[in-house]
Amino acid sequence: MTCKIDRRTRHDSQTHTLSPEAFFGGAFGLLVARHGCLIAQAIERLGAPPLAIEIEGAAWTIAIAHQGSSVTCQPGAIEGALVVTLTAQQFSELVQNQITFNGFLVARSLPFRGGSLADVSIWDSIWICLLEGWPVVGDAITFKDRSGAPLNLAQVFTPADDAEDIRHFLAEAGYLHLRGWLDSSDMVEISAEMDEALPRAIEGDGKSWWAQIDDGTRRCVRIQHFEAQSPTTTRILASRRWAEMVSLIACDDTLTSGQYVEALVKPVGVIAGPSDVSFHRDCHLGRHAYLCARRTVGIALTPTGGGNGSLRVIAGSHRLVMPVEIAKKAPYLPVVAVATEPGDLTIHLSCTLHDSTPPRVSERRVLYVEVPLAPRHGATETGRSAEELLREQVTSIHREIAQAPEGPI
Ligand SMILES: [Fe+2]
Repeated sequence: MTCKIDRRTRHDSQTHTLSPEAFFGGAFGLLVARHGCLIAQAIERLGAPPLAIEIEGAAWTIAIAHQGSSVTCQPGAIEGALVVTLTAQQFSELVQNQITFNGFLVARSLPFRGGSLADVSIWDSIWICLLEGWPVVGDAITFKDRSGAPLNLAQVFTPADDAEDIRHFLAEAGYLHLRGWLDSSDMVEISAEMDEALPRAIEGDGKSWWAQIDDGTRRCVRIQHFEAQSPTTTRILASRRWAEMVSLIACDDTLTSGQYVEALVKPVGVIAGPSDVSFHRDCHLGRHAYLCARRTVGIALTPTGGGNGSLRVIAGSHRLVMPVEIAKKAPYLPVVAVATEPGDLTIHLSCTLHDSTPPRVSERRVLYVEVPLAPRHGATETGRSAEELLREQVTSIHREIAQAPEGPI
């Protein structure tokens, strides 16, 4: 059985300026012919209002039609619609999935009226469904193991487990919990290297994130590009054991070996700032169709769970593009808390919803390592720079304001 998780449908080399007239007069009809049924199902199930998009003096409204079996677009903004206002440039980026409504919200560049934040979030998901055919809601999401029995969503895999079972779990659930790949004594070394790196971080240095603690202090909660300051991390990423793990989680895709390590410190008592982030996809700001499904590997340096918070994932959320505002309040797929020991690995897909719950008892520490898909054969991949631009835009917001909006962990 093939097990490809590569969901890329677009190349950066194909992007161009696309006007609303060209989109609604052309590609929109083709996309609705393919995905209109899924969109109508999402609108009805989630109670979404029509969406009106205002662009530099003109407007278009997307609303349910054909006895609830599809949608249509009409000129102007109709009564009762959620109205969002975009520039022509923003619209061109939106329809090519360079950025999403969520991305505009995080960047504080999406005026809207006639609806709530939840309505924008629902349309954020519906828009991805329109472009990529990723269903928003579904009747029959099931979790089965390779024999067809119910999948144990809390399963912890070790190197003794069957590799095909592990790959099947990742494809089915969108995440993994691995134990036994790394030496826990290396976690002590990495934590000591964090202790050395933290005093070198300066708020505003462009390389660290900071949070406000309830004792009045400010603490560095994230060091970006930690690999440059951690010989132990560099050794692990260059090891044969790591390469074998990457090969395992690649399934039938080809991955790079891993890059861009972030070291996260999660103190007790954070009252403001980007320490623990609520449910999101790592692609929810944009570029799903260019990058997914990248794997993110968490390396637990300290224990999690047991009342002290942990990473949580929403099982199967890479199969349904659940709106993040619904994920926070009323998720319609199972929420799984991943309780780890030092040296454990967590793997989540960039399109799997995840969050982090705050520590209550003692400080937690974790590394996150991005493991992107290898560039496609024959493709001119300039996406790294485009992704970096988006990341920099978001991280600048995280760094510069005390109460940051939500972005990638
Ligand atoms: Fe994340």
